[in-house]
Parts: sequence; C-alpha cells; structure tokens
Amino acid sequence: MDEVVASNQAVWEQASTKHVREYDELLEEARGDGLLLTRELELLAPVLAAEPVVVHLQSGHGLDDIGLIKAGAQRVVGIDYSSVAAGAAQRRARELGMACHYLVAEVPGVPVADACADLVYTGKGALIWMRDLDAWARDIARVLRPGGHLFVYEAHPAVPLWTWDEDEPRIRPDRSYFAESHVNDTFPGNGAREWQWNLGQIVTAITAAGLHLETLEEYAEPFWRPQDNTNAAAWSGRLPNSYALLARR
Ligand SMILES: C[S@@+](CC[C@H](N)C(=O)[O-])C[C@H]1O[C@@H](n2cnc3c(N)ncnc32)[C@H](O)[C@@H]1O
Repeated sequence: MDEVVASNQAVWEQASTKHVREYDELLEEARGDGLLLTRELELLAPVLAAEPVVVHLQSGHGLDDIGLIKAGAQRVVGIDYSSVAAGAAQRRARELGMACHYLVAEVPGVPVADACADLVYTGKGALIWMRDLDAWARDIARVLRPGGHLFVYEAHPAVPLWTWDEDEPRIRPDRSYFAESHVNDTFPGNGAREWQWNLGQIVTAITAAGLHLETLEEYAEPFWRPQDNTNAAAWSGRLPNSYALLARR
C-alpha cells in the first residue's frame, strides 16, 4: 500500500472506533427509517426496484447498506480498509438479520469478481480518499455487470474552500479548487491527506472508464453537518455543497 494511503488508513482505524463506542445508538438508528437521503432514494428508485446486488465502496458504519436493503437491494457487499468499521458494520447487520457482508480491503483493487454487481454505491466522504481516480473508475467498471449502475452521493468538490463562518460565506485563503490535495483538519479524517478531485476530473474518470453519465445534480444542502457547527452561512442555499451522480456501464 502507498505510504500516504497507509497513514490515512491508520487515521481511519482510529476514527472508526466511534462506530464501536456508539454501537448501540447506531443500531437504534439502523432500526429506524431515513437512512438514505430522499433525493438518493428518488434517483435510485428504478435501480432498487430490480432488487440489485450492491457493492458499496468505503462502506464505513454501514447504515447506508441497511437503508439499501430496506429500499429493495437483494444484498450488499460493503468494502472498507478499516477493519474496525467493517467489523462494527458486520456485527450490526448480523444482529438485524440484514443481507450485508463486509470485506476489509483497499479501494481501488477490491477483491470481488468481475461483473458481480448491479449497483456500485459510494460517496458521503469517499472520493477524497482516492489517490488515483482513474484506477477507482476502472475498478468500478470492472465490478459492474454490463448495464449496471454507479451511484455517487458526495460532498461537492468546492466544499474544501468554504469557511464555516456564520455571518457570511467566505473562501479559505489556504485552499484552491484546483489544488491536488490538502490535510484534513476536521473530525473524522483529521490529520489525513485528502485528495481534491474537481467535477471535471470526476466525470472524465468515470466516462473514460466506459460508463455513460445519466444524471449529475448539484445541491446547496450538505450531506452532513458537524454537530458543533450547524449554521455555516456557506450552507444557506447560495453555494454548492453536495452532488449526486448516476452512471451506467
Ligand atoms: C467518511 S467515511 C464514509 C463512509 C460511508 N459512506 C458512511 O457514510 O459511513 C470514509 C470511509 O472510507 C474508508 N476509506 C478511506 N479510504 C479508503 C480506501 N482507500 N480503501 C478502502 N476504504 C477507505 C474509511 O475507512 C471510512 O470508513
């Protein structure tokens, strides 16, 4: 494994202990509704109606996987390089009787068969940890069966620029939309090096891997708000904070 990726993995092993500490709260959350966002459920509705086999890249605490099963997925294979995250997600899925199976592995280079998935699902803080986006997109194209879909719901690439000032939105003086990477300074990835892929690079990597872009939507609403800072002016509706992308092999 690349040295920077290995150091990021160590940060994630530590950060993922939260999923163990908060196991019971997450289990309770998993029993409820609202695990997936309304818009992602709308965009995924035709795909989920066909009871897809899903591969979830960077599955984290795995609540999305339970949401996908509840919304129609036949089964989900979650892949994450944090053994702590994958272990907690597996325990939770087993306890709830959900058809989710977790693998501890690096993305890209996932240990699943070619053309095994009807849907590759990823996002919510995933792409920024990819060092090589072309390799990521090629791996997705390999894993998808012909006609299968890739779905990404992710923080907008402009987000690293926004300050969390509450009076008005400002651009951080230490960031550039076109920078290659920066060191994350917020929980949970604090101290890890994240890569900045802009929208053009993301779309180009996906289409160059042979996928056909079906939907690309940008949203003002962030997919996640840190608990201690819920009122940043950058989230008030004028700036992009997340996007969804659906592509087909
Ligand atoms: C912000 S979390 C998002 C996870 C998931 N979408 C969720 O909402 O819980 C990012 C996850 O990516 C995993 N991760 C980061 N880089 C990875 C890589 N190169 N290979 C596999 N997993 C990775 C981390 O361990 C972490 O669980």
